[in-house]
Formats: sequence, structure tokens, C-alpha cells
Amino acid sequence: MAVYPSLISLQCFIVFICISIFSSTVAASEPPLTLDYYKSTCPNVFDIVRKEMECHVLSDPRNAAFIVRLHFHDCFVQGCDGSILLDDTIDLRGEKRASTNGLNSLKGFRIIDKIKNELESECPGIVSCADILTIAARDAVILVDGPYWDVPVGRKDSKTANYDLASQNIPTANEGLLGIISKFLYQGLSVTDMVALSGAHTIGMARCENFRARIYGTTSGKNPLADSNLSELKSICPAMSGPGDNNVTAMDNVTPDLFDNSFYHTLLTGEGLLNSDQEMYSSVYGIETRKLVHKYAADPVAFFNQFSDSMVKLGNITNSDSFVDGEVRRNCRFVNT
Ligand code: HEM
Ligand SMILES: *[C@@H]1O[C@H](CO)[C@@H](O)[C@H](O)[C@H]1NC(C)=O
Ligand SMILES: *[C@@H]1O[C@H](CO)[C@@H](O)[C@H](O)[C@H]1NC(C)=O
Ligand SMILES: *[C@@H]1O[C@H](CO)[C@@H](O)[C@H](O)[C@H]1NC(C)=O
Repeated sequence: MAVYPSLISLQCFIVFICISIFSSTVAASEPPLTLDYYKSTCPNVFDIVRKEMECHVLSDPRNAAFIVRLHFHDCFVQGCDGSILLDDTIDLRGEKRASTNGLNSLKGFRIIDKIKNELESECPGIVSCADILTIAARDAVILVDGPYWDVPVGRKDSKTANYDLASQNIPTANEGLLGIISKFLYQGLSVTDMVALSGAHTIGMARCENFRARIYGTTSGKNPLADSNLSELKSICPAMSGPGDNNVTAMDNVTPDLFDNSFYHTLLTGEGLLNSDQEMYSSVYGIETRKLVHKYAADPVAFFNQFSDSMVKLGNITNSDSFVDGEVRRNCRFVNT
């Protein structure tokens, strides 16, 4: 029985590989991002972002998780172009309400607004919201003890958002491994990038509706959850959907506020909170991913190095249109008028 759907996934997988090869040839004509893009126009940009992020992460480490996730969800929809930041208006349907964005569960927008305000008074009209989000995500990781990497900049903000692409491109908690891999390949990211970037789940929380099927064993028979903390999880997340849907728990319940490799340890013991995460270790298709999970669980330095490289690749997904038709938004929530 299991063979038929897996064949379909495999076909999608091959189609996606072709698409990703095609789309990477289209990207070649864009100006590359550079480290010194704002050197003369806004020399303090990195300091200003860091200072704001320091405030927000010190006051609540969860803010680091919000910003890192926002950056990921921005880049997977028409490239890292600040499209995720756009609010709904009469003539623009934003991405925030897409089901894959938890129908409005993304947070951290006010932090980006705050940084934007600071930058508009220091160097008006210069720094794109897409760059702000990318730099802020790097700082978020550092501030919860994760690795440092240099952030290439020079992105432009889109004048559009894409609700449908948000629904299609962003992976979900109950998706199988091949589906998730194909979504990364489509963006020009490898299986290694996927496993390393998923390590971001070492910080932050998930809502009950994203792990209910897993803890009650209704995710089409897959990956039974190791039961050491099952009863506690069930008390947080009732079986019936309803008032408990937005109850949250940490994806890395050992060190929820620290960026470390203990997320991978939860997978080794079968305790990954999200089915999608556990898939990397437990899926029958996960030969390569399982090796990587072992590697990052054993070697935090290898994880940090790969995470840094993969974050630069994630931030390098570009929207070809926004280079031609992009802008620097004055307010990250609205296209300039
Ligand atoms: C590999 C496929 C991925 C899937 C299926 C996935 C899915 C999810 C889900 C379901 C949540 C919980 C959201 C909620 O309940 O509100 C979540 C949270 C989070 N994700 Fe992912 N994610 C993936 C990859 C990534 C990547 C690549 C990053 C960043 C590099 C990332 C960063 C985060 C962070 C930081 C949180 C915590 C947010 C918070 O505390 O509110 N995720 N993810
Ligand atoms: C189970 O929950 C307890 C109480 O919250 C916690 O101290 C412990 O670390 C958890 N164990 C695992 C394996 O997650
Ligand atoms: C939400 O979780 C708390 C425990 O963290 C629990 O006491 C409460 O009953 C849960 N809410 C629902 C509606 O189940
Ligand atoms: C970023 O993308 C450009 C093409 O848009 C490519 O030439 C460059 O090698 C990429 N850099 C990284 C670090 O992936």
C-alpha cells in the first residue's frame, strides 16, 4: 500500500529537481549581494540592528525564534524580498494569513518595525526591509549563543506578496520527508542545507495543532513518539481541536532558549516534537538525512559551520523581479505609495 504514494512523491521529487536546475540558470544576471553594500550610505546599519535585537532577545529569548522563522518564511516565497512583512490591504493579499503561516501565527513584525524606524531616522530610504530581516535573523542566532556569520546585503523589497506561493512552498509539520526535501531543492537548497537549517528548531515553540497528530499517533501511522513525556504533552495539547490549539511547547525541551545541537539529540531518541523533524531520522527514505542527524548530534562545531553556510544560502535566494522592480520600503508593512 505504501508504495503507491511514495512513487508519486518520487515523481514530484524529480520534477522539482528539474525546476530547481532551470531556475538557478535564470538567477545568474542579478547583482550579487555584498558585505559592504551600505558602507558609505549607512555605515552603522549592523550596529543599529544588533542593538535593537539585543534589547528584544534579552527581554524574551522567544523573540530570537520569531525573527529566524520570519526570515525563513520570507525567503521561501519569491526569494528574500520582505514579502512576508506586507500587511493585507485592499489591493494586496499578504502572506501572513496563509495556512502554512499558521493563519497569522507568525510574530516578530513589531521588532522589524522598530528597527526600520531607527534606520529611517539614521539613513532614510536606504536599508531594505529584506536586509533588515536577514541581519536581524543572524543577530538573533548569536544572541541565543549560536554561531556568527557575515551577512551579505543589497536586497530590494518586493512590491508584491504571494499568498498562493506561501501556501505551496512552505513545508508543514505533517509533511513527509520527500515532500520537504523537494521544497528545499526547489529553492536551490540541498538535503544537507535542509537538515542543518532545521536545527533552528533548537529554539522556539510549536503550537498544539502542529504536534497533535504526532502525540495522539494519528499521523498516518508514522514515527511513534517516544513516550517519556507523552502524558505531559497531552496535558498541554488536548486531543480535540478547540481552545488548546494555540497552546505551545518547546521543540527542544532540554535547552529551549539556547542555540545548540540538542535538537538533534531529541531526534535520536525518537522525541522530535514535529513529525516533519522526526522524519529526518526515522523515515525509511532518510538514509542521508539520518547520517546528518547523527553527525550534528555528535559534533556541535560541524552543525554550527553548516548552519552558518546554509543560512547564507537561504539569504541568497533572490527574487529576480524585485531587483528590476523592487524598492526600499519606508514602512515594512506597506509598499511605498
Ligand atoms: C524543514 C522544514 C520545516 C518545517 C516543516 C517547519 C515547521 C515548523 C512548525 C510547524 C513550527 C511551529 C509553528 C507554530 O506552531 O506556530 C515551526 C517553528 C519554528 N521554525 Fe520551522 N519548519 C521547518 C524549517 C525551518 C527552518 C529552515 C527554519 C529557520 C532556519 C525554521 C525556524 C523555526 C523557528 C525558529 C520556529 C519557532 C518559532 C516560534 O517560537 O514561534 N524552521 N517550524
Ligand atoms: C520530561 O518532562 C520533564 C518535566 O517537564 C522534564 O524535566 C524532562 O526533561 C522531560 N524529559 C524529556 C526526555 O524530554
Ligand atoms: C493549555 O495548556 C495548559 C498547560 O500548559 C493546560 O493547563 C490547559 O488546560 C491547556 N488548555 C487546553 C484548552 O487544553
Ligand atoms: C548567491 O547567488 C548568486 C546568484 O544569484 C551566486 O552567483 C552566488 O554564488 C551565490 N552565493 C552563495 C554564497 O550561495
